Amino acid sequence: MNRVLRMKDRLQRGIMLSLFVVLFVSYIVTVAIIYKQNFSIMQYEVNQEAKYIKNAVDIAGVDYLKKIDNVDRDTRITRIDTSGRVLYDSQGIKDLDNHLSRKEVKMALKTGKGEDKRTSPTLGKDMYYYALLLDDGTVIRVSKTIDNMTSIALDILPIMGGIFVFMVALSGFIAIWQTRKIVGPINDIDLEKPLENATYQELQPLLNSIDEQNREKDAIANMRKEFSANVSHELKTPLTSISGYAEIMKNGMVRPQDMVDFSKRIYDEASRLIKLVNDIINISILDEGYANIDREDVDLYDLCNQIISRLSSQANKRNIKLSIEGERVDYYGIRPILDEMVYNICENAIKYNKDGGSVKVWVGDTLDGPKIFFTDTGIGMEKGELNRIFERFYRIDKSHSKLIGGTGLGLSIVKHAAILHGANVSVESELGKGTKFEIAFGRNN
Ligand SMILES: Nc1ncnc2c1ncn2[C@@H]1O[C@H](COP(=O)(O)OP(=O)(O)OP(=O)(O)O)[C@@H](O)[C@H]1O
Ligand SMILES: [Mg+2]
Repeated sequence: MNRVLRMKDRLQRGIMLSLFVVLFVSYIVTVAIIYKQNFSIMQYEVNQEAKYIKNAVDIAGVDYLKKIDNVDRDTRITRIDTSGRVLYDSQGIKDLDNHLSRKEVKMALKTGKGEDKRTSPTLGKDMYYYALLLDDGTVIRVSKTIDNMTSIALDILPIMGGIFVFMVALSGFIAIWQTRKIVGPINDIDLEKPLENATYQELQPLLNSIDEQNREKDAIANMRKEFSANVSHELKTPLTSISGYAEIMKNGMVRPQDMVDFSKRIYDEASRLIKLVNDIINISILDEGYANIDREDVDLYDLCNQIISRLSSQANKRNIKLSIEGERVDYYGIRPILDEMVYNICENAIKYNKDGGSVKVWVGDTLDGPKIFFTDTGIGMEKGELNRIFERFYRIDKSHSKLIGGTGLGLSIVKHAAILHGANVSVESELGKGTKFEIAFGRNN
C-alpha cells in the first residue's frame, strides 16, 4: 500500500524544531544577560554604599555603624581590624573566624580597597564583597547576595515553558496554513497541459516528465489510429479481390480451363490475408510487451540454420545462394520471437535480391555480446530510406514492391522484437549493391 506522508506533520516538526532551537538559545542568552545586569547594578550599589559608610565612619566614628544596624537585611556590613578580627557584623553573627585570608580584606589593607565574588555553597547564591580601608586603619566591608545563573534560569523557566506551549500551538497553525498555501498550487495543476502551469520551479522536472509521458501516450494513440486505418485498408484489398474472383466463378462466367488460374488467384490472396493477420497478431503481442514469459537459452547458430533450410526452396527458385558461418552461441530469449526476427530479415534478403545473388549469415559471440550479420547482394536501398523501413506498412517504391509482395510489417516486427530483447538492429545499404543487417544482442542477459 502507498505510504501516505502528511505534509502538515512534517512542516510542524520543522517549524517546532527551529522554534525550539531559537527558544533554547535565547533562554541561555537571556539568563546570562539578566545575571550580568543584576550583578553590575548590585556591584554599583555596594560600591556606593561602602563609600558612604566609609565617609560617615571617618567623620562620625564607629558608632555610626550601630545606627545603620538592620537597615537593610540584604546588605551585610562587617568591620575588620588589621589582625583579621571581626569587630562588627551587621547581621550580628558571633565568633567569626579570622578574616585576614579574605581576598577583599587583604587587598583593602594593602591598597585601600578590594573586591571579590564568591559562591556560597550553602545558600546557592553568589556573594559580592567590597572592602574599603578606613582612616583608623580598620577595614569596612559591604556585601550583598545575588541570584546565581542557575536560580535565574529556574526563575524564568515557567515563562519559557509557557512560551514553548504557545509555540507548539502556533507551529500547528502555521503548519496547517503553510500546507494549504503550498499544496494549493499543486492541486491546481492541469495535468493535461503540464507545461502551461504557473507553479513551483521545484516541480518542473515532474511536470516535464508528465509532459513527456503525455506526448508518448499521444504518439502511441496516433500510431494505433494510423495502424488500424492501414490494417483495414490492407485487409480490404485482398478480400475485395477474393470476393471479385468468387463472384465471377459463382456466375459461371469462368471457362473450365481458366478455373485453375482463378482458384490460384483466390488462394494467393487468401495466403496474403493469412500472413497479414499473423503479422498483425504478432505485432499486437509485441505491443503488449508481456512476452517476457518463456525465455530460454536459444542457440542462435542453430536457429539461423533452421530458418535458412526453411527458406531454401524460395531461394532456389531464383538461384540465390544461402550460406551460414560463425559459431554456436546461446542467447537467453524468447524462441518464437527470435525466430520471427531472423526469418523476416532473411526473407527480405532473398526477396529483395537479384536472381543468382547470395545471402550470407554470420552468427557468433563478440566482446559486446552475441551478434548476427545478414549480408545480401540485393537491390539495396538509398540512405534516406534506412530509417523508414522499420515503420509499419512502409515499403520502398510501392509500385515495384507490389510485384514482390509483402505488407511492410516484417521489419516493424523485427524492431519490436529487438526492443523486447534489449537488442539493437542496424542496417547499412548501397543502392544496387546490397544490404547488411546487424542484430546486436547485449552482453547482460
Ligand atoms: N535486404 C533488403 N534489401 C533491400 N530492401 C529491403 C531489404 N529489406 C527490406 N527492404 C525494404 O524495406 C521495406 C520494408 O521491409 P519489411 O520487411 O518491413 O516489409 P516487406 O518485406 O515489404 O513486407 P513483409 O515483410 O511484411 O512481407 C521493404 O518493402 C523493402 O523495400
Ligand atoms: Mg519483409
